[in-house]
Amino acid sequence: MCGIVGYSGPGNSVGPIIEGLSRLEYRGYDSAGICLKINNELQIIKKEGKLDNLKKLIEEKKPFSHTGIGHTRWATHGEVTTDNAHPHGNEVFAVVHNGIIENASTFKKQLIAEGFHFKSQTDTEVFLVLLTKFYKETQNTLQSISKTFSSLSGNSAFVIIEKSSDKLYCIKRSAPLVVGENKEKREAYVSSDPFALIGFAPRIYFPQDAVICESIVSDQDVNINFYELDLKPSKRFKFQSNAMSMDATTKGPYEHFMLKEIHEQGALINKLAAFYIKNEGRKILEGLKGFTTPEWHITACGTAWHAGIVIKNYFEQINRQRASVDIASEFRYKNPILNKGEISLFISQSGETADTLACQELCKEKGIPSYSIVNVEGSTLFRNSDKNFLIHAGVEIGVASTKAFTLQALTGYLMGRAMEGTLDQPELFSEIQLLSNRIDELCANADSLKEVAEKIYSKKGFIFTGRGKYFPIALEGALKLKEIAYVHAEGYAAGELKHGPIALIDENIVNIAIVGPELLEKTVSNVEEVKARRGKIVIVGPKNLEEIEHLADAYIALDFEGLPNLSPLYVNVALQFLAYHIAKLKGTDIDKPRNLAKSVTVE
Ligand code: F6R
Repeated sequence: MCGIVGYSGPGNSVGPIIEGLSRLEYRGYDSAGICLKINNELQIIKKEGKLDNLKKLIEEKKPFSHTGIGHTRWATHGEVTTDNAHPHGNEVFAVVHNGIIENASTFKKQLIAEGFHFKSQTDTEVFLVLLTKFYKETQNTLQSISKTFSSLSGNSAFVIIEKSSDKLYCIKRSAPLVVGENKEKREAYVSSDPFALIGFAPRIYFPQDAVICESIVSDQDVNINFYELDLKPSKRFKFQSNAMSMDATTKGPYEHFMLKEIHEQGALINKLAAFYIKNEGRKILEGLKGFTTPEWHITACGTAWHAGIVIKNYFEQINRQRASVDIASEFRYKNPILNKGEISLFISQSGETADTLACQELCKEKGIPSYSIVNVEGSTLFRNSDKNFLIHAGVEIGVASTKAFTLQALTGYLMGRAMEGTLDQPELFSEIQLLSNRIDELCANADSLKEVAEKIYSKKGFIFTGRGKYFPIALEGALKLKEIAYVHAEGYAAGELKHGPIALIDENIVNIAIVGPELLEKTVSNVEEVKARRGKIVIVGPKNLEEIEHLADAYIALDFEGLPNLSPLYVNVALQFLAYHIAKLKGTDIDKPRNLAKSVTVE
């Protein structure tokens, strides 16, 4: 969703701000803008649509400025227009904002009654106008930020620059914000995502909620000051060296980030297993040994919810512990039955998904401990969890989640094995290694999946089916296809087809049937039912099984041997490739599919 980048230093702020915003494009946005302090004026350049529109304007003007802020906006309050794009500015300040101000309309009415004017429909401008009003009363920027922030509610991050100095100010509540510095170059940075600062700011700080950060660049140094809202110095921030490598910011030899991320999975699986079974992560998992709870409440959205279903199956099958899985936007409003002794488990790549965070709040209010399987260390979910199980997937840039799913499910599997006390069984490590090898083999032979895609990509609709442990993979396969190829796709339990969806079947519909070695005959009879109605059949099934191969218009042969627990993750990678190749044939924007945002920070 929205992205923020700010810079102050001796160089031209335009370069790092635009580079940072380009890196955040993957999150999804609909307009972009920049405010630069030039000759003691705050000059705003902004444009609806893609960042390229803004870049064109900047190329024409060729501005130079030591201090600036930039933003990519994903509309919440107010339509997608250039006026509503950020930054918002006036004769004193310019502001960029991520999140929502919940009481904006109340303040807006009051401010209008007091004679203030608004140029946009955004809630952000309420922050700007209130800030300016307080500044006119106090002539003190820090005090005015504190008063404005305290008056407004809702989860937000604000970055502010002013006409009278080159300082960067920022503050946030339950929204991501990172401040960075490069001592050698005397540069200060701020962003909503450390990814934007890779290669720019070797030292980064994560301020906690309601801490005002003030970055000051002088001729000798760069200093970042942290204040509480009463303007006393604050220590509520976490320092980290920005260890992320520049490789994360490029596609390497791959045409798309999604393809790169699919290929990364084999290696990441081995790394995660080594971390949790053999290295530092071991003590995190060992804490679970012998652990039981009457019920796990697993909550997540989208792909992470599918990973949650895989994990529920692991907990129930390995540990015989009851686990429920809910879509976060449903769980939070269903008045869930939560009892003492139960545990909530949140799954999220970004750790910033608004509905998932709201469920975490709810569970905390009810006194239920909160565990998380999460990718982004330092994210809101991470910070608010009692225990975190990081998936160590690295940055996931493709909007369609791939490697995060695999590593979320694997982390859940390892948690189950840790509870069972079987982390040391050699068969565990070897199954994981085998999974990694099989995924690498799939990557090496991905052309065969391209051939399957060529046979079916022009069809009208796609029904993915699977039984048992493959049911969540059918759901995930369908989600991946619809989000990147813009075709209608549904996932069903194979046995459920005849209870309604079979009415859809004709020669324009493709059934992508996952036929695992378990319940093989039953699943094959479901395929027969589709075939009898002239549906096109793609089977993802065991290799060397000629008796079912002949049923299919295309057969994706996988080697299920030796993967009794992890085969769903393997099958899923085949479906990731299939979705990718169908999308490529359709010519869609694979890494940034229309209407989607990487991190859904609104409800
Ligand atoms: C699908 C996808 C989304 C996310 C969902 C949750 O490919 O990426 O469905 O899985 O928005 O996001 P996180 O995991 O960040 O909470």
